[in-house]
Amino acid sequence: MELATGPVKLKVLTLKDLDAVTDIDESLLGTRRRDYWEVRLERAEVSGVPSLAAELDGRIIGFILGSASGWEYGIPENIAWIDTLGIRKEYQKQGIARLLFREMFSMFKKVGVDTIYVFVNWRDWDLLKFFDRIGFKRGDMINLEMKI
Ligand SMILES: CC(C)(COP(=O)(O)OP(=O)(O)OC[C@H]1O[C@@H](n2cnc3c(N)ncnc32)[C@H](O)[C@@H]1OP(=O)(O)O)[C@@H](O)C(=O)NCCC(=O)NCCS
Repeated sequence: MELATGPVKLKVLTLKDLDAVTDIDESLLGTRRRDYWEVRLERAEVSGVPSLAAELDGRIIGFILGSASGWEYGIPENIAWIDTLGIRKEYQKQGIARLLFREMFSMFKKVGVDTIYVFVNWRDWDLLKFFDRIGFKRGDMINLEMKI
């Protein structure tokens, strides 16, 4: 583990951060998905609220992608999602994800969001524990799926 000793700065995540995000994702999940992230970051730029990166000494060490709803699919405007987040392994457990979430939380509040959803694989204990610690509870939505 490396200690984030310098000041961690938050900035808006843009397509220019594609390589950094791709690297973080690959280091966490083991697969390089540059094309996937290109599409995700393009979409993030029009998602209603800015997605964010945490930067230490000019290097991105974590990011969070979120979106706030318009009136798509009958979903009211007061709903937002955390789409994904990732922190470089060596900087985990130092409050970086909490910092990113807090900033996104206040941006959501400013645009009138009152409920934030997140979908987490139930076997993903790191994410489940993290969301539990920062105050998420089990929601009323039921996850349905059909294999084709
Ligand atoms: C889950 C994750 C985002 C947490 O990031 P982090 O920067 O380490 O989290 P923080 O340090 O801000 O932790 C906030 C709180 O959650 C707790 N927490 C975080 N990860 C935890 C874990 N694995 N187990 C138990 N508690 C955990 C912290 O202890 C802290 O609680 P406290 O403030 O009460 O002490 C990080 O582990 C990660 O990126 N995991 C991989 C996520 C992933 O697969 N993303 C998809 C690909 S990009």
